[in-house]
Amino acid sequence: MMAENPDSCAGTFRARIALPSLAATQELGAAIAHGLEPGNAVALWGDLGAGKTTLARAILTALGVTGEVPSPTFTLVQSYETPTLLVSHYDLYRLKSPREMAELGFEDALDQGAVLVEWPERAPEALPPDALHMRLSLDDGIRSARIAGPARWAEHLHV
Ligand SMILES: Nc1ncnc2c1ncn2[C@@H]1O[C@H](COP(=O)(O)OP(=O)(O)OP(=O)(O)O)[C@@H](O)[C@H]1O
Ligand SMILES: [Mg+2]
Repeated sequence: MMAENPDSCAGTFRARIALPSLAATQELGAAIAHGLEPGNAVALWGDLGAGKTTLARAILTALGVTGEVPSPTFTLVQSYETPTLLVSHYDLYRLKSPREMAELGFEDALDQGAVLVEWPERAPEALPPDALHMRLSLDDGIRSARIAGPARWAEHLHV
């Protein structure tokens, strides 16, 4: 069964975390980075400007990526050889069809490392069933993340 959003996710770990500052997002990114393994997918849901790229950057920085982490808005994917893990950062906003995922090497990226996926609703079937779902939101100036995923994430994201 494919999870289409955090609410329908089959995972058993659920949490909500406030993200009042960039520092809070960096802390969350570091916690995710710590638990990230090859084959893992992190789905970054949320409206325009909700903070998806910022959280992806925080994860990559925590994994030791130095220098710029551009938003893959136009390239759709940007890959990083971190010291411990190959990480492919996808932004599917401009994906025209879920069929394009094959051209973008999504299966290989998951075989070889971890993937971070902005706008996963463009190709929800591509996500593995054990994806970690993060739904970012900005409501009345208050930022937060709703988290859903496999139980093993509870030990990394004790919030
Ligand atoms: N926790 C936070 N605290 C303060 N500002 C934040 C936080 N998270 C993100 N921002 C700011 O919000 C803006 C939008 O963030 P970001 O680009 O990460 O959104 P996005 O969800 O990736 O948007 P898009 O849908 O366009 O890809 C940026 O200027 C970023 O610095
Ligand atoms: Mg973005």
